[in-house]
Amino acid sequence: MLKLKNLHLRSGVIQSPMAGCTDLAYRLLSRSYGMEFCFLEMVSAESLVRDHSGARDLMETTPEDRPLGAQLVGCRPEAMGEAAKIVEDMGFDLLDLNLGCPVPKVAGNGAGSALLAEPDKARAIFAAVVKAVKKIPVTVKMRLGVQDASGEEAVRTARIAEACGVDAVTVHGRTRVQGYSGVADYQAIGKVKAAVKIPVIGNGDVVSAADARRLREISSCDGVMIGRGGLGNPWIFKNIEKTLSGNGESDEPSFEEKKSALLRHFELELEYREGKTALLYMRRIACWYFKNIPGVNEFRTAINTCLSVPDMRGLIQNFNPLS
Ligand SMILES: Cc1cc2nc3c(=O)[nH]c(=O)nc-3n(C[C@H](O)[C@H](O)[C@H](O)COP(=O)(O)O)c2cc1C
Repeated sequence: MLKLKNLHLRSGVIQSPMAGCTDLAYRLLSRSYGMEFCFLEMVSAESLVRDHSGARDLMETTPEDRPLGAQLVGCRPEAMGEAAKIVEDMGFDLLDLNLGCPVPKVAGNGAGSALLAEPDKARAIFAAVVKAVKKIPVTVKMRLGVQDASGEEAVRTARIAEACGVDAVTVHGRTRVQGYSGVADYQAIGKVKAAVKIPVIGNGDVVSAADARRLREISSCDGVMIGRGGLGNPWIFKNIEKTLSGNGESDEPSFEEKKSALLRHFELELEYREGKTALLYMRRIACWYFKNIPGVNEFRTAINTCLSVPDMRGLIQNFNPLS
């Protein structure tokens, strides 16, 4: 059980925020397979404060899509505080602050992972947000550091967060300069766990229940966050929960089960997006489900030129592994 204020999570297995991936269709599909908690993708605090429609669009949700966390990215304490209040008023169950994004458009502007090297600014942001939010838990998701892979910047940032009243931190075991290369360092995540009393959620390279167990054993983290491992694999959440609680081993889906999950995912995209946009999204989504299946390259070529909803459905229904 992971307790964050009044939010009690049975499993502590969480889907991370992922831009362009963890949309409403993804979340509803994954929930139907047992995912307990999920995030929207990051939303710019400045856009939300200025009420840009793009920011609100990214926050589309439904009553079944609960419990749900929102994540803000930004570097101005006033805007972050103001946006935090908006998030709480919108009814989200948790607010996370992004201190991990490595992309130049974000980090180059002093937000995301750049804040790991700016302890005073990070402190001002945490304090403004904790002051603005009345009820829901506030968490911070960070990388190990900007360049220094020892974990010291994450330890410093987590201590500041704890002192400001933040309820938990998530640590992705890579630095900003590492991007997504190499392997996540679970020992360095453990350094953060040892340094603070608030819960620490470990993140990085968990694509199986065995990985989740290793992350927990090495870092002693309180929760496990899944990123890319959830894409095309909604079974991962239950598998990890079962394995970590000693209630069984992983059930791996058959090819037909993957196909039917993908078809349901497509129908959900169609429910919440205009047809043409759903088709564009499907170019990526379909390949998540059929990764490593013989013949997927030809399938990818076909869906990348597919221009109609019935044709897309047919391509998925008729795809079979090459023998
Ligand atoms: C396409 C993509 C989009 C992402 N978007 C976000 C985001 O909006 N906010 C965030 O905190 N992390 C984001 N991340 C980072 C992931 O949430 C996660 O921390 C990272 O992928 C490491 O976990 P994993 O190895 O399990 O994927 C993104 C990662 C990817 C690959």
